[in-house]
Amino acid sequence: MTRKILVTSALPYANGPIHIGHLVEYIQTDIWVRFQKLCGNTCHYFCADDTHGTPVMIRAKNEGIGPEQLIERMYGEHLRDFQAFQIAFDNYYTTHSPENRQLSEGIYNRASAAGSIVEKKILQAYDEQEKMWLPDRYIKGTCPRCKAENQYGDSCDVCGAHYQASELIDAVSAVSGQPPVMKESTHFFFRLSDYADRLRELFTAGYVQNTVQNKLDEWFSAGLKDWDISRDGPYFGFLIPGQTDKYFYVWLDAPIGYMASCKNYCDRSGMDFETVWNGGEYEICHFIGKDIMYFHALFWPALLMAANIRRPDKLFVHGFLTVNGQKMSKSKGTFVMARTYLNHLDPEYLRYYYASKLSGDVGDIDLSIDDFVNRVNAELVGKLANLASRCGPMLTARLGGMLGRLDDAGKNLLNTLVAAKQDIIADYEKLDYASVIRRVAALADICNKYTEDNQPWSMIKTDAEKARVTLTTILNATKVLTIYLKPVLPVFAEKIEKFLDIQPQTFADVETVLESRPIKQFIRLVERIEKEKVDAMIDESKPVEQPAAPAQTQPTPASVLDEPLAAECTIEDFAKVDLRIARIVKASAVEGADKLLALELDLGGITRSVFAGIAKAYKPEDLVGRLVVCVANLKPRKMRFGLSEGMVCASGTGGDQIFLLTVDNGAKPGQRIH
Ligand code: 2FM
Ligand code: ZN
Repeated sequence: MTRKILVTSALPYANGPIHIGHLVEYIQTDIWVRFQKLCGNTCHYFCADDTHGTPVMIRAKNEGIGPEQLIERMYGEHLRDFQAFQIAFDNYYTTHSPENRQLSEGIYNRASAAGSIVEKKILQAYDEQEKMWLPDRYIKGTCPRCKAENQYGDSCDVCGAHYQASELIDAVSAVSGQPPVMKESTHFFFRLSDYADRLRELFTAGYVQNTVQNKLDEWFSAGLKDWDISRDGPYFGFLIPGQTDKYFYVWLDAPIGYMASCKNYCDRSGMDFETVWNGGEYEICHFIGKDIMYFHALFWPALLMAANIRRPDKLFVHGFLTVNGQKMSKSKGTFVMARTYLNHLDPEYLRYYYASKLSGDVGDIDLSIDDFVNRVNAELVGKLANLASRCGPMLTARLGGMLGRLDDAGKNLLNTLVAAKQDIIADYEKLDYASVIRRVAALADICNKYTEDNQPWSMIKTDAEKARVTLTTILNATKVLTIYLKPVLPVFAEKIEKFLDIQPQTFADVETVLESRPIKQFIRLVERIEKEKVDAMIDESKPVEQPAAPAQTQPTPASVLDEPLAAECTIEDFAKVDLRIARIVKASAVEGADKLLALELDLGGITRSVFAGIAKAYKPEDLVGRLVVCVANLKPRKMRFGLSEGMVCASGTGGDQIFLLTVDNGAKPGQRIH
């Protein structure tokens, strides 16, 4: 009996790039989806960009573009990164879509008709200068407990205290820098507690893993509170039906985005969305991280119940990623963006390594850099790829590329491998990929021992046909192990299929034996990881000093002035800064620092080398010959790439939004600016 399954991963926010922490989930889900498909099940994998909310609105404003333009750019970047990591969505959509608007309105209207939406007046922080309401994350001030400055409105990064934004000392809006005022507004709330009994039934039916159930029990004991699903304008989102300036909170329409992605796919592929999502024929499975459990375990199913829509069957929750046993850290270079990883390393290394660590529970998984290098080199390259790379070229080069027939020893070996199939399938099903990897590595050990025992490289000199039997056995073994790992290593599998000249394999092909047939030229499967490449990736992930551009922090101020004015300085203070006209005589990229350009400046006979963080905004060749403003008496600073002997002046928010202060032709290099 084949199954029909709809699968989703959490929708990544459209206000930032994909990083290796995100990838734990997408790789975990992708492996499961590929596994289901390879078992012959019908499985569709849906996802989308999560586009609404305050952070997207503010970031777009800071960049001087509309939110639509920002989410379009992010969509392209996210999709490109996912494709590079072989995350095979059946549809990758956006929550800012007509389907999502229609579904969100429909679900809200039904919940409202069911009496589960209530209005309440609340007090909320408001930025009078920016004319906007402030979520807690956009209020900053001094922690009421430990007195650390510059902490967010909900919790303190220094002492970990949780508090109300109103308790912050000297609170200011992170958007304008002005103190917020508290104002009253009417909001819409979803009455979660109306669904307590039905939620309990859902959990009894096994919606979540056992380890997650305890957390849910805690929430139930604490009481299910009403959920604020509205936000006042200005807000980037969908207007609530019947309102003129109230929007759905991003978390209302985000999970509905799962359905919208599915609907968009169904409409394009001639399937009836209503039957697919609501007909009961398909299982619905969500993959998420433990930080968003409350939304998916309580709000989401309750909202569906309110709208009389089929509730999901399974919520698979995973833990966070740590690197070298610690939280990912920008300063340590362990907060690695997907793109940075791809600049240095093969995505299949990460797929393999994450698989080797994922066991289907909510514990955090650790990417230990040394273990990553050792494990990939020892297992993936040393054990698995090695089997094929030792035997494949020998058969093609010396035995005409023709497989022979298996002898009893070969059949026995293959039987051992085939016997593991049901256990491996069971492991995949329960997301215990670590167990799959252990089993396959142990089987590869047996195969390598068989190769060592039979020494085909010696045998070929005396008994070519006997060597052919050994090589045939090993290549058949490689085929079986490759099928077992195909959900994890799709590209590796494709290379083996091409080399063995066989159709794309599924789990049904495990028992098929390849005998007396030609194979093709061997294709290199996977290279050893060089530690230097990993180091270079970590190095590229470290923040570089950006002499020319103001550092971009989130959230950045977005008033008429990009940043609040700095403290006053006297004319004497100002006179200390020696600003000079400089001509850029050379400009070049800096290896290992994609934001920096190395500039050589002529200050009227004096040459200065300066590193400027403007590489995202300017091409080196466009800069040569231009006149700029340079801080000529800045104390030279040693940077990782060399000495920076000054600073060129620029404005902007960072990235490609940097604007050099340039000077009209006619001004002379070296002239002082007063
Ligand atoms: O936590 C997050 O990154 C959210 N963007 C996840 C949304 S998942 C779903 F509900 F849309
Ligand atoms: Zn504190």
